[in-house]
Amino acid sequence: MSQPFKRHRRLRQSASIRRLVREVTLQPSDLIYPLFVTEGRQIKKEVPSMPGVFQYSLDELMEEIKEVIELGISAIILFGVPIHKDATGTGAYAKDGIVQRALRQVKASFPRLTVIADTCLCQFTDHGHCGLVEAGTIQNDESLSLLVQTAISQAEAGADVIAPSNMMDGFVYAIRKGLDEAGYQHVPIMSYAVKYASAFYGPFRDAAHSAPSFGDRKTYQMDPANRAEALREATSDVEEGADFLIVKPALSYLDIIRDVKNTLSVPVVAYNVSGEYAMIKAAAQNGWLDEQATVLEKLVSMKRAGADLILTYHAKEVLRWLAQSS
Ligand code: PBG
Repeated sequence: MSQPFKRHRRLRQSASIRRLVREVTLQPSDLIYPLFVTEGRQIKKEVPSMPGVFQYSLDELMEEIKEVIELGISAIILFGVPIHKDATGTGAYAKDGIVQRALRQVKASFPRLTVIADTCLCQFTDHGHCGLVEAGTIQNDESLSLLVQTAISQAEAGADVIAPSNMMDGFVYAIRKGLDEAGYQHVPIMSYAVKYASAFYGPFRDAAHSAPSFGDRKTYQMDPANRAEALREATSDVEEGADFLIVKPALSYLDIIRDVKNTLSVPVVAYNVSGEYAMIKAAAQNGWLDEQATVLEKLVSMKRAGADLILTYHAKEVLRWLAQSS
């Protein structure tokens, strides 16, 4: 006899049936692990607002990467934490800059690991902004040539992928052109296409010492209230040559991830940012949340929203959990 209602629970009655009908899964190959590299030796310094995340000097970085590879991570992204900063962010594009040295060293020892370079000026400028500053305003076109120089120097040092995060207009166009002219046509661009001016970056600015010394980033990063604008940003980046699109942050922007995925056909990367990491760590340390269950749920939500890849500080622990559960 037919029922007047539907029985959805039929497909939930056992772990094995649930697995059969599961729509998205989290795979080790989905994850990109961020690493902070700093100058000096024998430094492995925990970021206070990000338990489990460290700044590494080059020697310590190699140990860490060995472990990361053993866990099954296939891609990392490097952020530089230089000692010297100046008005034009010289360290970002110096041949022997901290990121360039790290790239050379990592690629020499681990040639099969995909190493992505974050391409920005903010960690390297004394004012902490992502572009050149003149009379208190962030200059767009004047900043582009420095970003191009940064990208080329990173490609020269062995970066497999260039990830520009500065949000100047035209950065993908300029960097694509610069890389091509320098002979790096094969190096893909993973663009931080949709990057909101977010309070969730707080702990990263501790980790990378990159908080702006005056003002904020609202004239170049996006207003959290805007949705249509995200598609304009993403569309223009693809037109200018982006091979991947990053949406950042991820958790409060799952609708944007879905919009970008539905509109454009390049791989979409969710950036699970520092504040999203710190919130769960803090709650878990207080015994208020089950850390493993919460992290896996939030990352699977990003996949469900349409992310092909997830850049996350949780990558190492997630790989341990996935290995235990399989
Ligand atoms: C800077 C940059 C930021 C992050 C990555 N690259 C922060 C910012 O705009 O201040 C944030 C990452 C995170 O919060 O995890 N170009």
